[in-house]
Amino acid sequence: MNTPCRGLAKFLVATVACFAAGLLCAQPAPRPGLPPPPGAPPPPPAPAVSPGPIPTPGSVPLAGLTAAQLADFQSGRSEFLNRETPATGLGPIFNDVSCVACHAAGGVGGASRRTVTRFGRTLNGVFDPLENLGGSLLQERAIDPAGREVIPAEANTVAQRVATPIFGAGLIEAIPDSTIVFNTLRPKPAGIRGRVSVVADVASRGNRIGRFGWKAQQATLTAFSADAYRNEMGITNRFFPTENAPNGNPSLLARFDRVADPEDQIDPADGKADLDRNADFMRLLAPPARGPETASSRAGERLFAALDCAACHTPTMTTGRNPILALSEKSVGLYSDLLLHDMGPLGDGIAQGTAGTTEMRTAPLWGLRLRPVWLHDGRARTLDATIRAHAGEAQNSRDKYTRLGGAERQQLLEFLNTL
Ligand code: HEC
Ligand code: HEC
Repeated sequence: MNTPCRGLAKFLVATVACFAAGLLCAQPAPRPGLPPPPGAPPPPPAPAVSPGPIPTPGSVPLAGLTAAQLADFQSGRSEFLNRETPATGLGPIFNDVSCVACHAAGGVGGASRRTVTRFGRTLNGVFDPLENLGGSLLQERAIDPAGREVIPAEANTVAQRVATPIFGAGLIEAIPDSTIVFNTLRPKPAGIRGRVSVVADVASRGNRIGRFGWKAQQATLTAFSADAYRNEMGITNRFFPTENAPNGNPSLLARFDRVADPEDQIDPADGKADLDRNADFMRLLAPPARGPETASSRAGERLFAALDCAACHTPTMTTGRNPILALSEKSVGLYSDLLLHDMGPLGDGIAQGTAGTTEMRTAPLWGLRLRPVWLHDGRARTLDATIRAHAGEAQNSRDKYTRLGGAERQQLLEFLNTL
């Protein structure tokens, strides 16, 4: 996987790909050392360097990174843009060829209109992900059409999930588990509960509080990176060393799988695999900048609290101490409690991790105005439609919204457009 030849080919492909997309390409970065282990005391402050030219809004590194961290960001960004091929391990079944293919709205690492399909079988209210038939995530493309995966006849539940944005993800990762647990203890308006998603994190080999994905199904960016690499692109790696067999069929897999596993190998030069580079990029990616406030948007912000939106969409949380100073003890304006809420008919019918079929993670609202579509399946084309689709624990809050006068509703929408 990591022969010099593969590295060069990947760099060329990434370069062509990002020029084609009209983006400013990152220079090949020097090979930096490993990041300090978690829990290590913060290193002495290093001089901050300027981020250089800004490619697109939302795709800038965190402020105050050291030169070595900035190099990690740039090399991770090239990897995030890199297009895999069957020769580099793509497939045999996959959903797309690069991370940026699904994460580009508002800049590299953004959301998109792109959805992926989940399926399973629901009997008497119990969801079966049909794992032995290739569920619950469908891989809709294949390096050879004869090895394609299809939605099996046994499936009676099918849901679409739109790609979520990754801006500021390192700050979300750096919020201590205990802070998220504390959100369950705060007094809440009638009807609103919220519970933590406890997940087995492959990266730290322990139970952690999940926070990424529509179901809060992952706790760390390293785990999400490894999961997306295998499940969206078919690149096996040290955390997920086994390929997905098309609809669980081992003979189809044997026919089309040509590259030895794990496909993503650690590069001895810096101790990192490509999944680690993708995680570096996401961890060091700046949060979306706030838009300008007006008197009207400030009135909308007060309504946001009065309608109990803020009971779930918690405006800020604070990160813990972190070896990366730019992530250490920072206020994170994400507008989410990162808890699972029973959203009633707005739930997607898929059980995943500890999240039930009607439970969804409170979607962080930062960067809302950079999103092309809203809600887990991308069904909402306006923020008004997004709010009106709230149900379950959010029903009272939604009803208060629908009772607003036109001018007040406009103020609330103006506030949301500053996020
Ligand atoms: C085929 C489209 C597709 C590709 C390719 C893809 N993603 Fe995603 N990504 C998604 C979707 C859809 C979600 C929402 C998943 C969910 O919650 O079910 C998502 C969510 C995420 C999230 C969670 C962000 C959050 O807070 O919710 C991360 C992190 C992520 N992707 C990283 C990656 C990385 C790294 C790669 C490349 C290795 C990648 N993705 C490739 C579609 C894609
Ligand atoms: C009970 C908790 C809860 C309350 C109260 C609540 N929300 Fe939400 N909100 C959620 C959840 C969960 C989602 C993700 C739903 C989905 O797509 O399945 C969401 C999604 C959203 C989205 C779309 C985000 C995206 O990424 O697509 C917006 C915008 C939003 N909420 C605004 C509001 C506003 C405004 C209010 C107050 C009128 C409100 N919410 C009240 C839990 C809540």
